[in-house]
Formats: sequence, C-alpha cells, structure tokens
Amino acid sequence: MANRPLKLGLAGLGTVGAALTRLICARSDDFVARTGRLPEIVAYSARSAGERGLPLGGAHFYPDAREMAAKADIDVFVELIGGASGPAYEAVRAALARGVHVVTANKAMLAAHGLELADMAEKAAVALSFEAAVGGGVPVIKTLREALVGNRIQRVSGILNGTCNFILSKMEAERIPFDVCLKEAQRLGYAEADPTFDIGGFDTAHKLSILAALAFGARIDAEAVSVEGIESITLADLAAADDLGFRIKLLGVAQRTDHGVEQRVHPTMVAKTTPLAQTMGVLNGVTIDGDAVGALTLVGPGAGGDATASAVAADLADIARGVLAPAFGRPVALLAEAERASIQRHEGGYYVRLSVLDRPGSMATIARRMAERTISLESIVQKRASGDANAYVSVVIVTHATTETSIREALALTLEDGVVREKPQVIRIERP
Ligand code: HSE
Repeated sequence: MANRPLKLGLAGLGTVGAALTRLICARSDDFVARTGRLPEIVAYSARSAGERGLPLGGAHFYPDAREMAAKADIDVFVELIGGASGPAYEAVRAALARGVHVVTANKAMLAAHGLELADMAEKAAVALSFEAAVGGGVPVIKTLREALVGNRIQRVSGILNGTCNFILSKMEAERIPFDVCLKEAQRLGYAEADPTFDIGGFDTAHKLSILAALAFGARIDAEAVSVEGIESITLADLAAADDLGFRIKLLGVAQRTDHGVEQRVHPTMVAKTTPLAQTMGVLNGVTIDGDAVGALTLVGPGAGGDATASAVAADLADIARGVLAPAFGRPVALLAEAERASIQRHEGGYYVRLSVLDRPGSMATIARRMAERTISLESIVQKRASGDANAYVSVVIVTHATTETSIREALALTLEDGVVREKPQVIRIERP
C-alpha cells in the first residue's frame, strides 16, 4: 500500500525528461514496493505545451519553470533544463527557498553554484541530488558519497564524456575523421546543445569538479580545473598510441598531490590493459583509488535518455524513502578549502610527437635538451627516414616521469634549436 504520492514537478521534456516520464509510468509498481510512495508527475514545464505522446496524465503545464518551482504543489522539483545560470538556476533556487527537494542532472550549474545550492538545501533540510549529473547511468555519486565512506580517496580518474569517447573510439577503430564522428554522436543524441562543451573538455571539467568535491570532502572548485579538449588528436596519434600499447582517452583526473589537489582534463595515454582503456564508445568509466578498497572501476552508459533517467529515479527513490544525505557528502561547513596544485607541477610520463629535421645530429640535440632538464627517455621512434636532409619526419618520444615544466621547457628549446618545426603534440600518460 502506498502512502502519500511523491508529487513531482518536471522541468524540461528533452531526451532525458521524456525518458523519465516513461520510466516512472513503467516502473511505478516497483517504485511503490521499494519506497512506499507512488511517484506522480503533477506539473511540468517545457518550451511548449502538449504532451508529445508522453504519459503526463493531468499534469499541469507551466510555461516557465521558475513559476512552477515557486508555486506548484510538489514535493520534488526535477530540473532537466540545463545551463549554468539562467532559468534552471533561478528555478532551483526558488524550489530550495520554499523547502522543495531538488533533483538535477545539471553539471554546469553545480560546477558554478554547487556550494551555494548545497547550503540552501541544507538550511531547508531538503535534498539536492544529482546522480544524473555525472556519468549518466553510472552510479558514481552514490558510490563516492556513500559506498566508499570508509576510504581516503587518493585519485579519481574517469572518462566522463560519452561524446568524446564515442569520437575517439570511432576514429581509432574505423580511421575516420573527427568531424564525421562528431556528427554521428550528435545524431545519436549524446552531444550537448553546443558541442564545444563536449569536445573542448568543459563538460568533463564540470563533472570532474563535482567528483573531486565528493572524493576529497572539499568545496567545489571548478575554476581550478586545467582543461584541454580532443580537437588536436590526429589519426597519427591514435596509430602511434596503438603501437606503444596505449589508447587515447579524454580523462578527467583529480588527485591529491604534495602540492594540493590537482584537477585536470586532457587527452591521455592509458595502457590498453586498464579498464578505462577498454571503456569504448559512448560508455563512461570511472576509476577510484581508495586506501581501503584499492582501485575500483565503474563502467556504463554515460549519456542518453534512459540511462540518465535511471539515475534520476535513484535520487527520487532516496527522497521517497526519506534518506537525506548532504549534497557533497558532508555538511557545507565541514567541506575543506583544498589547496590548488597547478598543472605546471604535474608529474608523469609524456608522449611527444615531433616533426624533426631529418639530418645527423637532430636526435642528439633533442636528447640533449631532454637530458638538461633531467628527463629520462623510455623510447624514441622514427618511423622512416626521408632520404632528404631538408625534409622533416615524424618522431615519437615517450618519457619516464618528469614534470610539466621540464618537458615544456625542453620542447621550447628544441624549437629554438631549429631541429623541430611546428608545435609538438604532447599527451600526458596516466599510469594505474
Ligand atoms: N554530452 C554529454 C556526454 C551528455 O556526451 O557525455 C551527458 O552529460
């Protein structure tokens, strides 16, 4: 027997909103059995009225999500509009201000205003839940916030953008250009409205900042994330990675270092044997290194309507049961102000692809510049000689662990030496 229904106000009827509407209808008996409450969409807002063949029953239509959040008789405001500021943010604030629970998939809004919204939710003793904001259907928020509470987390590294992973996987497997792969991702409904959010790494950065706050018990600090996208990755890099036993993935990595918390998003060489390297297509994957549990990887669909609706449903179930956890795992007052570790101090191995003048002494010059910065080389591969002393050939270097500053300085000097032309391609290597 169900107790009071769980009255929902749904803002946004895009891919996820529509999928959630169907999921709630199809799973209502299960939901009642598990939580004791029947979820019911009593109000919705969207760009236009009309039920689009969705089971919205007698739900009241609001042309403006802010008005719905402020006035509708609802227990939960479900925000599936998107956008860091503007109507989504204003509506969420309006809901929290009057003590209405909020469930959101909006990573951009959380990255920009997460702390303020968590504080509002805490003061109103309501939920601010966002399982759907990171990793689509992959329950990484709950894992960090609840399942791994007994761990000190050292590092979180993840493939957090389905569009980028789809593009890189397709480029590698089918040797087709970047633009064609991007169009296909857009057609399949994975990409953000503005695809530069995906391919530029910004969507991953938003998600990473949320994971870092949860993992390290810290105040969310999205501005600290160093961001590089996948635009510069070529088929030559993917082929070289393959030869070296790596795959290239757009990773978001947050880790504790001696200098503070490092947060970075960039194309990364990962060994083919690791779970993240084997996470292909639109799938997302997150590896969490905890001191008690060791390394744990979650892999699953990171985008798409049904998968994301599955995550929203999990948050709704918690609210229906009366389970109320602090948004970022601990009360806002207990979140630490983490020191920022700059990317210049990053330590790790590097893959470098250079266009090198094909004449005696070029390699020696490059090796000397590396040695001057105490960079130890793991391998240097020149595919083939040109037979022309004025021609340039492609050379791939893999270094042992060094610092970002050292490698950048060494490469700048090789350019000055005149043995290298064009900006070198530099890809960081992430070891398990
Ligand atoms: N554009 C995002 C992605 C959607 O490609 O992963 C999910 O946040």
